Amino acid sequence: MCVKAVYPGSFDPITFGHIDIIERGLKLFDKIVVAILINPAKTPLFTVQERIEMIRESIKHLPEEKIEVSSFTGLLVDYVKTIKAKAILRGIRAISDFEYEFQMALTNRKLLKDVDTVFMMPDERFSYLSANLVREVATFGGDISHFVPSHVEKKLKEKFLKGD
Ligand code: PNS
Repeated sequence: MCVKAVYPGSFDPITFGHIDIIERGLKLFDKIVVAILINPAKTPLFTVQERIEMIRESIKHLPEEKIEVSSFTGLLVDYVKTIKAKAILRGIRAISDFEYEFQMALTNRKLLKDVDTVFMMPDERFSYLSANLVREVATFGGDISHFVPSHVEKKLKEKFLKGD
């Protein structure tokens, strides 16, 4: 049996923390679908296509057949049903993440009783890392090389030079 998990998020942009969770998740699951939420209520820095490309580039060192990169709209549980995933994979960095993650996990389980959320902790080197902070540091020209792969760093620099 192929046990599939969905790893949902904004990934705006993907960071070393996300990559660490994908690598850890691959030890538990046969397949991981990295799924970007298309959220009309938010204005992301990167388009969905740009985010998909950055994720694909970031996971090139991992077994291709075990990871899929995709996007979804609407409820996560509907997407979980559509792709027949068994679990939702989420990274949890610190106690501050707990309340939000706890609420989401229990709401999702209420909406779809057979789905559980599996939390994994990233390496402690990445426990403070967030895409929001990476974007902020990049906005002001700070060094983000410790937070994101070099191809993502390049994309962020291009974004802020272009000013879009
Ligand atoms: O990377 P993020 O922004 O923390 O990811 C949040 C995400 C995409 C996992 C969450 O917002 C989500 O699943 N949204 C889809 C809409 C939904 O199902 N909402 C109810 C979840 S409790």
